[in-house]
Amino acid sequence: MKLIIASNRLPVYAVKEGDSLIFKQSPGGLVQGLSASIGTILEITESKDYFWIGWPGETIEEVNQERVYEYLLKTLNAIPVFLSKEEMEKFYLGFCNSTLWPIFHSFPSFAKFKRDEFERYIEVNKKFAETALKILDDDDLLWIHDYHLMLLPSFIKKEKPNVLVGFFLHIPFPPYEIFKLMPKNMRETILEGVLNADLIGFHTYQYQQNFIKTVRSIFSIEHDIKNIYIDGRRIRTDVFPISIDFDKYNKAEELPEIKKRVAELKNLSHNSKVVLSIDRLDYSKGIVNRLFAVERFLEKYPEFHKNVLFIVVVVPSRIGVEKYNETKEYIDSLIGKINGRFSTIDWSPIQYLFKNLPFEELVPLYILGDALLVTSLADGMNLVSKEYIAANPKGALILSELTGAAEDLRRAFIINPNDIEGIADTLKEALSLSKDELFERNKIMVEYLKKNDIKKWTTSFLEELSQCTPTKKPIY
Ligand code: UDP
Ligand code: G6P
Repeated sequence: MKLIIASNRLPVYAVKEGDSLIFKQSPGGLVQGLSASIGTILEITESKDYFWIGWPGETIEEVNQERVYEYLLKTLNAIPVFLSKEEMEKFYLGFCNSTLWPIFHSFPSFAKFKRDEFERYIEVNKKFAETALKILDDDDLLWIHDYHLMLLPSFIKKEKPNVLVGFFLHIPFPPYEIFKLMPKNMRETILEGVLNADLIGFHTYQYQQNFIKTVRSIFSIEHDIKNIYIDGRRIRTDVFPISIDFDKYNKAEELPEIKKRVAELKNLSHNSKVVLSIDRLDYSKGIVNRLFAVERFLEKYPEFHKNVLFIVVVVPSRIGVEKYNETKEYIDSLIGKINGRFSTIDWSPIQYLFKNLPFEELVPLYILGDALLVTSLADGMNLVSKEYIAANPKGALILSELTGAAEDLRRAFIINPNDIEGIADTLKEALSLSKDELFERNKIMVEYLKKNDIKKWTTSFLEELSQCTPTKKPIY
């Protein structure tokens, strides 16, 4: 038995530097989560019999494809699916990130519905299927991830009905009223695609129930709280909140290089209170709302001037999608405005980094940060909040109620991202608590994360998938 993972992203992506190609760690929570679960996957499959199929993140010229293929296979058991520039534009920047992403995050006014982009989406899903079918045997498990590959279950079941297919959605599933804004052919094809999986996983009960209600409304089929029944087939759905490698973050403080970096940063921050803001560039992360709240906080609580430092890390993402470019410009201008308004010769409230930090740079920030502000307007899970509490059990987590993580981290300071005044006041309240008080408050969340780590997520999904009977009668 082999386990095949399929996701749009591979753990690394290729970058052209002059005449050579180098590989860097891919951005985002999906890759972080899946990379952390590989250890468990190896234990479960009792061998190295797993492969990870995905896009190497850049258009690779034909002359280099064989070399890249061999390198990725040898170093990561990864099998690349090469996409042309046109496929990348219409599939990745187009239907995935200009249609599905805004609809699934309930930003319908940001969504475009272009027929040629949808056709490319179908074609690219077929391309992934062809790659997977080359290595799939009847007794294998195929675990498909996220909104880029929602048609893959159909294309696999058509050819190999005996293969057990699991699908996991890493982003929210929207309410039916939003989903149905997609044109009929698009919404029905997407649902039929994913309904060919044997098990469909979500981060929260809310997303799962949105999905079941949507399927019922569009196809008028039978269902109960977890299962959907179509033509004698049973499709299971369930809730599996993704998590983190708890020990890796919780024990990071003991590593000498991390200790050293924390001490250096403490010096640089002149023992001010440090408030963190760490996300991928995305309108769904509510970075703009957060900056409004930072401005309000500085206006309302002048006693913090010169005693607080906001470190804002924005990871470059999906440059080329109009709404992302606009969000970047808005963030840049707001940070400029706030720093211009409140800075003095010897103090600026915001330190702004537009880059993807490696673990050795990110974790010292978690440890240093007195608070982390998460103000997403919609967020499938939000792993940054879980990593922060694991790395810094004495930190104050201010967390949007619109994240999946808010379901798990109930002792965080829960805020609504549209309540600018409320965020500013909550930040003041959180910064006034002592480290001991925060440690007591966070205990229950630390215990929760310890028990519900990435290993638990991986094993519970794969155990449930292996208990399913493969559905041999696909729907189209
Ligand atoms: N991350 C990182 N470097 C950074 C900022 C974030 O490696 O500079 C990682 C972080 O550790 C986390 C992931 O990126 O694992 C972000 O996942 P999350 O679920 O918070 O958001 P996503 O980007 O998937 O929407
Ligand atoms: C989210 C999505 C992932 C995606 C990641 C980074 O976490 O759920 O599927 O990989 O963002 O986005 P990108 O477009 O760079 O892959």
